[in-house]
Amino acid sequence: MTALLEGLPRNQGQLLPALHRVQHELGWVPRESMTVVAKHLRLTEAQVYGPATYYAEFRLSPPPKRLVTWCSGPSCRVLGGDRVLNILEAELGCRLGRNDSSGEVGLWLGQCNGTCERAPQVWVDGRVVGPLSLADTVRLARGVAAGETVVDVPEGALQIESTATQVGAYRHGGDS
Ligand code: FES
Repeated sequence: MTALLEGLPRNQGQLLPALHRVQHELGWVPRESMTVVAKHLRLTEAQVYGPATYYAEFRLSPPPKRLVTWCSGPSCRVLGGDRVLNILEAELGCRLGRNDSSGEVGLWLGQCNGTCERAPQVWVDGRVVGPLSLADTVRLARGVAAGETVVDVPEGALQIESTATQVGAYRHGGDS
């Protein structure tokens, strides 16, 4: 892992670039990597651990089986993204940037990907899902936690089905 930090100047100003390097390479920031970063930058472990756990952009858990990525972009936030996040955290049982206790489902931070016409949105296993009402968000989170799969349907509607049999179709503003 020390090779990852090669060429990086050894000072506190390089802390965030160092953590980004680790995450880019490993997909997350393991606890042991913080020790390596601390040694390289001549910092205490606490000086690394604090920022690594403060910024939601750093993932402190390995990639989960099911990933819900919350869009933190301006259009999504203006249209209720923060409330969507509150519901996701409550329903999935994990904070932003973490996995749930089973490690199966994760809730990670995302940036605007240019599909703002579907704000507020999340990505479920890489698929855009939105626009989300608060009721949609509750159903979506429960569906993901139950192992259901989100599929694209025409006109920006949202549909979620189990991998075995379809259990429901949800449209923005009402059930169907
Ligand atoms: S702000 Fe969320 S997709 Fe653009």
